[in-house]
Amino acid sequence: MKLKILVGTMTSTADYVAQSIQMDCADLVDEIEVLLMDGLDISVFDEDALYLICSSTYGSGDVPDNARGLYESLDAQPKYLGHVRYGVIALGDCTYAQTFCFGGKKFDERLQGLGAQRIGEVWLHDASAGTFPEELGTAWCREWLQNEAIPAMQKASA
Ligand SMILES: Cc1cc2nc3c(=O)[nH]c(=O)nc-3n(C[C@H](O)[C@H](O)[C@H](O)COP(=O)(O)O)c2cc1C
Repeated sequence: MKLKILVGTMTSTADYVAQSIQMDCADLVDEIEVLLMDGLDISVFDEDALYLICSSTYGSGDVPDNARGLYESLDAQPKYLGHVRYGVIALGDCTYAQTFCFGGKKFDERLQGLGAQRIGEVWLHDASAGTFPEELGTAWCREWLQNEAIPAMQKASA
């Protein structure tokens, strides 16, 4: 099974999280691909893979600039994504109380609207907490893969 991590980022934190997962979780799946969202559109979901959206939040609760094309294509070129299983890592900052982690949450909402199935809960990271998102995000991802995502993918292909 392949894990495909799609990264929405402005100042690379989400990319560091994805790269840390790529190194640390290599023993759990056949392959881990990390893709910045720049230039992507809805066709990225055509592949038979497990997806992980890893996105920060900018503006007033918007997806980062490099994620906008992919996010908008989910509306502009909609298609049924019932075959897609995905998880979400949403990075934000609690000081933006009204829009905390909206970048990742917006992807989640739109993917569900197209029939894609989220595995597990959205994992949230608060930049103002003083914790390291690479460390915590990687630990979350290991558990998520072992306890939820891999069993769900095996069940779906059985
Ligand atoms: C200008 C600006 C606007 C932001 N807006 C939000 C926001 O609306 N909601 C939120 O939860 N976090 C917001 N953040 C926090 C970032 O999402 C957070 O720091 C994240 O870890 C950055 O990840 P990145 O380096 O991958 O872009 C904002 C940060 C900046 C600098």
